[in-house]
Amino acid sequence: MALPVRDDLVGKVPYGAPQLPEAIQLNVNENPYPPSEALVADIAAAVGEAARRLHRYPDRDAVALRTDLAAYLTRVTGVPLGVEQVWAANGSNEVLQQVCQAFGGPGRTAIGFEPSYAMHPLLAAATSTRWVGVPRAQDFSLSLDVAVAAVREHRPAITFVTTPNNPTGTVTLLEVVAAVCEASAGMVLVDEAYAEFGTSASAVTLLAEHPRLLVSRTMSKAFAGAGLRLGYLAASAEAVDALQLVRLPYHLSALTQAAARAALARTDELLGTVEAVKGQRDRMVAGIRGLGLPVVPTEANFLLFGPFDSPGRVWQQLLDAGVLVRDLSSAPGLAGWLRVNAGTPDETGAFLDALAAVIR
Ligand SMILES: Cc1ncc(COP(=O)(O)O)c(C=O)c1O
Repeated sequence: MALPVRDDLVGKVPYGAPQLPEAIQLNVNENPYPPSEALVADIAAAVGEAARRLHRYPDRDAVALRTDLAAYLTRVTGVPLGVEQVWAANGSNEVLQQVCQAFGGPGRTAIGFEPSYAMHPLLAAATSTRWVGVPRAQDFSLSLDVAVAAVREHRPAITFVTTPNNPTGTVTLLEVVAAVCEASAGMVLVDEAYAEFGTSASAVTLLAEHPRLLVSRTMSKAFAGAGLRLGYLAASAEAVDALQLVRLPYHLSALTQAAARAALARTDELLGTVEAVKGQRDRMVAGIRGLGLPVVPTEANFLLFGPFDSPGRVWQQLLDAGVLVRDLSSAPGLAGWLRVNAGTPDETGAFLDALAAVIR
């Protein structure tokens, strides 16, 4: 029986990568390090305390959590941020959805520079926002001229710039972001999900000059909290007010708020994994290049390698050897390429061994 699904959703497929817990999972850019026993204990205590008040709705505005997030961003960027400039939701995907709901919609256009994060066009589609994918250069870089010309041509309500970019790992210079902001009458969303793994200054440093700039981040990657579902955004207070028009009341559960605050209290410990992850990423880059395969220069916790004539076969052979990577080769601009994220030293070693055996 055909259900009366919205016309513009008919034929679409849900987003999602395989979840195969028995494999070494290097396919969704997670941090391979689980929380320490001390952090597990802190989270359990904080969640236990919050559970005593579960008969009440949570703080709708998540003020304490947003205050902690503002303090973290101020610490790492040097930009003083108030709680009114920071917003949080269930993963940065929800933040991005709220951005599309508040600033996109029917009759409006969003653009992004592809290949990039596949959820951006899907969130645009789900909010009936027209999507225009603007191609990156052959080396996956994004030049100021290409970015500004696209903004002038399409006059987007939202421009997505992902840096470091998923799935390429490449970074976009801040001067390009600033030029996009200058050229744009719409909002500019800089998706910094992987910022902690890179060396570039954050677009947060541009916020004071650009009132339509939004910078999203997540606790899923560097903070090793993918299961927590906590993403956030820094922007002008006016932009944060606009997002509150579309957020569901009490969208962040009291348990999530408590757990996220307990994790943030151990920021230094959690970010201590970043150097280890970068070390394994660099080992992967060297190991793959040592096998004679190109790797795209990366500042994220993952890398793109290939291109292969039969990427699906290589993906399957790696999986047969127990290592799950991401086959993105059917996405526009990515023919032949596979993506893998850094693992623990053992996982990284297993991947490199498996790849060597596959291409031998
Ligand atoms: C570029 C980018 N943005 C946002 C996200 C969403 O992250 P989350 O919803 O876990 O915060 C991801 C996840 O892979 C990503 O790659």
